[in-house]
Amino acid sequence: MKQKILFSSAAIAISVTLFTGAASAQVSVEPQEHGPAQQEFVHGAPQLPSLEWILAAGGRIYDNWWEALDRDPPEGTNPAYPASAQQEGEATWRCKECHGWDYLGAEGIYRQGSHFTGIPGIMGARGYPAETIFRTLRDANHPYTQEMITDDEMLRVATFVSQGLTDMRAFINMETRRVIPGSGDFERGRAIFQTTCAACHGFDGRAMDWGEDDEHNFVGTEAAELPDEVYNKIANAHPGAAMINTRAFSVQDRISLMNYIATLPVSIDD
Ligand code: HEC
Ligand code: HEC
Repeated sequence: MKQKILFSSAAIAISVTLFTGAASAQVSVEPQEHGPAQQEFVHGAPQLPSLEWILAAGGRIYDNWWEALDRDPPEGTNPAYPASAQQEGEATWRCKECHGWDYLGAEGIYRQGSHFTGIPGIMGARGYPAETIFRTLRDANHPYTQEMITDDEMLRVATFVSQGLTDMRAFINMETRRVIPGSGDFERGRAIFQTTCAACHGFDGRAMDWGEDDEHNFVGTEAAELPDEVYNKIANAHPGAAMINTRAFSVQDRISLMNYIATLPVSIDD
């Protein structure tokens, strides 16, 4: 296994922006690589995993298995990826690329646009035994080798498919790709964000900025524009990052959190 340990101090960049008329400075810290002490938390597994941990770990593999598992990225385009579709290279090896962030495949957000493949979603597999789903994940549509994803790890993904999916149509308008206001408890979302997420992202979600150059990308920006992706991230955490996940909260709590974070500032001068 590749060991990729970077010391966080080397990767921190602090940019201070002063607003006209604002009383305080906005300090924005760029995303940082995790330190060696967090390596096991980010890429490893606990000795006695809880179901919640397994679901989150499976969800991170679904998002991006090589970032989640600290493997070399795959080379070339996935032979199972339809030749008629538009993506190429390593992206075509991510589960989400064929089945969507919303798990709805061609019936969800990826029913059109550059991510369209025509491949169905995986909601139909919900509730099936993980062992049954596991066999599907080793079929010809899924040419992952043991070096890429081991059986133990694939079983986590199968468990995630069996027990960890949420029907995002309950809170995302599939036409506009926006969070449906009132689909969750806004005040509950505020409480969770301020006590759980703000430690890293700040009270207004702008303490971390993963935009490039002049473009800023905050929690609010992502939640407003890519709620399906953000829901997957908050349920399971961002692969390879020392971020918490909300698996120990209820689905309704996560939907409440989405209702709140979709209202956070989307840009530097909000
Ligand atoms: C290159 C595209 C592609 C990628 C990447 C991909 N799949 Fe699939 N998957 C398919 C196709 C095609 C099918 C068969 C769909 C059908 O039955 O028509 C399928 C079927 C499934 C099914 C069965 C759905 C059902 O309702 O029976 C599950 C579950 C599944 N995939 C999960 C995953 C997971 C988890 C990953 C990542 C480890 C993944 N897939 C990666 C293309 C892909
Ligand atoms: C312990 C610190 C920490 C906590 C707590 C935390 N995060 Fe994160 N979060 C991170 C890091 C680190 C990243 C990765 C940034 C990067 O490198 O892209 C991240 C990334 C994200 C992203 C962006 C993912 C993407 O698409 O790139 C979102 C959205 C997010 N966090 C939301 C939340 C929410 C909502 C909560 C509360 C449930 C939360 N985070 C709690 C550290 C944290």
